[in-house]
Amino acid sequence: MTEAGFSVTVPATTANLGPGFDHLGLALSLTMTIEVTTAPKWEVKYKDKEYAEIPTDETNLIIQTIKKVVAMYEQVVAPQKLVVSSDIPLGKGLGSSATAIAAGIEIAGELANLQLSSQDKLRIGSELEGHADNITAALLGGLTVSYFTEDEMEVLTFPAPPIGVVILVPPVALKTEASRGLLPEQLAHKEAIKGSAAGSVMTAAIAQADWVTAGRMMERDVFHEPYRKVGFPNFDDIRLACHEIGAYGMTISGAGPSLFIAVPPDTEKQVAASLNQLFPHYQAIALQPAETGAVITK
Ligand code: HSE
Repeated sequence: MTEAGFSVTVPATTANLGPGFDHLGLALSLTMTIEVTTAPKWEVKYKDKEYAEIPTDETNLIIQTIKKVVAMYEQVVAPQKLVVSSDIPLGKGLGSSATAIAAGIEIAGELANLQLSSQDKLRIGSELEGHADNITAALLGGLTVSYFTEDEMEVLTFPAPPIGVVILVPPVALKTEASRGLLPEQLAHKEAIKGSAAGSVMTAAIAQADWVTAGRMMERDVFHEPYRKVGFPNFDDIRLACHEIGAYGMTISGAGPSLFIAVPPDTEKQVAASLNQLFPHYQAIALQPAETGAVITK
């Protein structure tokens, strides 16, 4: 990094936790770090092979976010070179686009000295993403609960919860738009009440660190799981195996295609090893919730 440069680090996130559809997010212990230095033209260099397909010109999501945010405040900034290192699997339901958008907002704020408040960043990010779950957790870390409409935004945070996390990653990627396309236009009132109750009990249980209840409610989603689970090989077998292994609960990570499994603290490696053996077509990754959101380092 040159003298004038800085870097930003942003965590991966999982969204929904089942019935917290579009409003619950959890930061995870995988990160993207972007080194930013002034350059003759905008460019992005991804150090990791998995990111080889991502555009590196001005159509890149990080660059586009920087430009949009700077333009919102009627500023212009000099072109930059962005060198990206990341261990976040791409298009696998771990919030990689929210991570990129959060990074873009932080970089724009730094380059144009925008003095953005936390609330500014949360609103801009949620508007760019279209929902608040991943982006709030990427910006703030820990577990976030958001109410986000055109004219109102409320975000509450919990510290990183005392659980271990296993993510089961299938070999295929899935675009969020495609996964949202599986959802119905309407949900019956009675069903919505069930889903809302599951979400409320789950959030209250999380607040009380009662992950046995939270894990059970995580599996009572009616907003998206019934429509999306068809795309997951062995979904019901995996859920059953998770219960037998002692996990608190298993659900779809964000829009998929990965699965999120909440487990008792310090058992994540052991659970990941068992699931790797039972379901070798998935890759099980042992993680922890992350306390820290987006951070700039100079
Ligand atoms: N809440 C979103 C969804 C997360 O499930 O579609 C993915 O962006």
